[in-house]
Amino acid sequence: MNDDPAIGPTLVEEEALAHRVRELGAEISRDYDGREIFLVGVLKGAVFFVADLMRHLEVHCAIDFMAVASYGSSTHSSGVVRILKDLDVSIEGRDVLIVEDIVDSGLTLNYLLRTLRARNPASLEVCALLTKPERLKVRDLPIRYVGFEIPNKFAIGYGLDDRERYRNLPYVAALADRS
Ligand code: IMP
Ligand code: MG
Repeated sequence: MNDDPAIGPTLVEEEALAHRVRELGAEISRDYDGREIFLVGVLKGAVFFVADLMRHLEVHCAIDFMAVASYGSSTHSSGVVRILKDLDVSIEGRDVLIVEDIVDSGLTLNYLLRTLRARNPASLEVCALLTKPERLKVRDLPIRYVGFEIPNKFAIGYGLDDRERYRNLPYVAALADRS
């Protein structure tokens, strides 16, 4: 698999991921000191990130998952989002932290925030492993924690897929330009 020509230049090395996830865990633990976090992992891409992040949280935490599909092509979301799997329990009065793999246009996250805010959590924050600042369409998205800002490239690995492939790469790479 590693000689697959579709795997382009590395964007974030495995060691850098591990280091940053540890830092984020420490920062979040400080911010939520004395409280309990309800982690909402967004399937499927955030699975690796949320599992690693959770291991570095030093406060009590629970975890649940949501799966959403955005209408549109596989590389451009439309902002119209459909819930494929919802949370199993109520988040009313809980301190909710959405954990996302990547925020591209921000449309998916914007929808998730509106949906979860309507359920009256005590607090609602976002931790995104990757953001693409050049592509952000939604202004003032409250992303409290960001792992890495990356250039406008289609990213694969560490949970991120191209048509379901490459999630198992231990680092983040750019998909090679198709010619
Ligand atoms: P947005 O609604 O444009 O912010 O896109 C959000 C979703 O699209 C993410 O949660 C990913 O599932 C997917 N996505 C966006 N950019 C990438 C990428 O570079 N690689 C893999 N998936 C991506
Ligand atoms: Mg995806």
